[in-house]
Amino acid sequence: MIEDLKKIVGPKNVLSGGAEKERFSHVWATDIPLSAKGVVLPSSTEQISEVLRLCYQHHEEVVVHGGLTNLVGGTQTNSNQWVVSLERMNAIEEIDIKAKTVTAQAGVVLAELIDAVAAQALFLPLHFGAKGSAQIGGVVATNAGGMRVFRYGMTRNLVLGMEVVLPTGVVLSSLKKIIKDNSGYDLKQLFIGAEGTLGIITKVSLRLFELPTSRYAALVALKNFNDVIRFLRMMQRELSGNLSAFELMWQATYQKAAPKDGQFQLSPEYPYYVFVECLGHDLQKDYRAFEDALALADGKKILLDGVLAQSEREVESLMRIREDTQVLRDSFVSTQHFDISLPIDVMDKEVERIVADLEQLPFIDAVLAFGHIADGNLHLVVGKNETTPVIFKTIESIVYKNLKKHLGSVSAEHGIGVHKKAHLKTSKSPEEIALMKTLKQAVDPKNLLNPGRIF
Ligand code: LAC
Ligand code: ZN
Repeated sequence: MIEDLKKIVGPKNVLSGGAEKERFSHVWATDIPLSAKGVVLPSSTEQISEVLRLCYQHHEEVVVHGGLTNLVGGTQTNSNQWVVSLERMNAIEEIDIKAKTVTAQAGVVLAELIDAVAAQALFLPLHFGAKGSAQIGGVVATNAGGMRVFRYGMTRNLVLGMEVVLPTGVVLSSLKKIIKDNSGYDLKQLFIGAEGTLGIITKVSLRLFELPTSRYAALVALKNFNDVIRFLRMMQRELSGNLSAFELMWQATYQKAAPKDGQFQLSPEYPYYVFVECLGHDLQKDYRAFEDALALADGKKILLDGVLAQSEREVESLMRIREDTQVLRDSFVSTQHFDISLPIDVMDKEVERIVADLEQLPFIDAVLAFGHIADGNLHLVVGKNETTPVIFKTIESIVYKNLKKHLGSVSAEHGIGVHKKAHLKTSKSPEEIALMKTLKQAVDPKNLLNPGRIF
């Protein structure tokens, strides 16, 4: 295999000597070295097609690697599997200013793509903490979410076209730049959020927006969850569509996340903290509207306290309080994290119940709740001081207890990967899972590409 793979991608681009073990370990778990037969680094769609064809012929399992920022074990491998890394497929092929689209190879890092289109006064609205490492192929394959979903949609809403290599090596190329295309099945949707189980995405074309010219943000404190919802609706009304982030942190989370000597020291005693961001196209008018909206909320006694960022740098540092989840993780011996969807009207009661149930357990140090609340997406970081599998399962069953009843989801935006497979049935019916398996079987009859992910 090694010699054949080297013939396809070049001798330097098959790594199997051992040096690859650290470089291709998981970004969030660098202490676990890669275990795989080797890492293959193709530089073109044709090479990926040949690699998959070869692996298919020889019954070799392949796991796809992008920026390795996945949070559900999606890039995990065993010593019997090959890694195909997209990192050399890192060219931005076209920015079409008239159509407002960008076409990029899968290995382009998201932040670089955002910067490149911004240089043409265009805007790719995807925004999440891992954007400096995440590659666009993985972002699309996992249908990533982040902070601006309620305004711009999940990644899915931005994908216009795609090139993908099927597990058998067949290339489907449809790099369209049109918004409307009702010509039968929308096949690209199959691969978005499929976590690499149905094909390797090699190129994507994405829809872009006008680059905002105004950006304002504030961090405010509120006294109860009902006021959080009132504040959200008020911001959506008053900012006439310019609201671009509405991120909630429960008290315990803010206390861990806030910089200890930062300039944005809201008292840590408030029950709820919200980061709001507004993106628009009129510097003065947008600032006045933002100030007025905050003043209106303040006048209605919705806000207990708040700080308004006065520069781009201040916007970034306010945002970092919410976004830097590493700080939360580093506060504990061990953590378990969750990414669930719930209807907004049950969110607070559920958090209360989860916190109360978890805090009765002796091995729990803290439960930190935060999330993209306008989407009903709640994240929990559970700090614990013991790490047995039984404890892991106990914590899971408390968090997931009412998800089905509330028609929520076990994964709002991080995917199922390897870690959440046991809970897929919480979010999907047996009939849905059966159809998903039928699709996998049809596209990958030998179950060789990203096996063991999702189900
Ligand atoms: C966030 C990631 C963890 O929202 O989804 O910070
Ligand atoms: Zn998130």
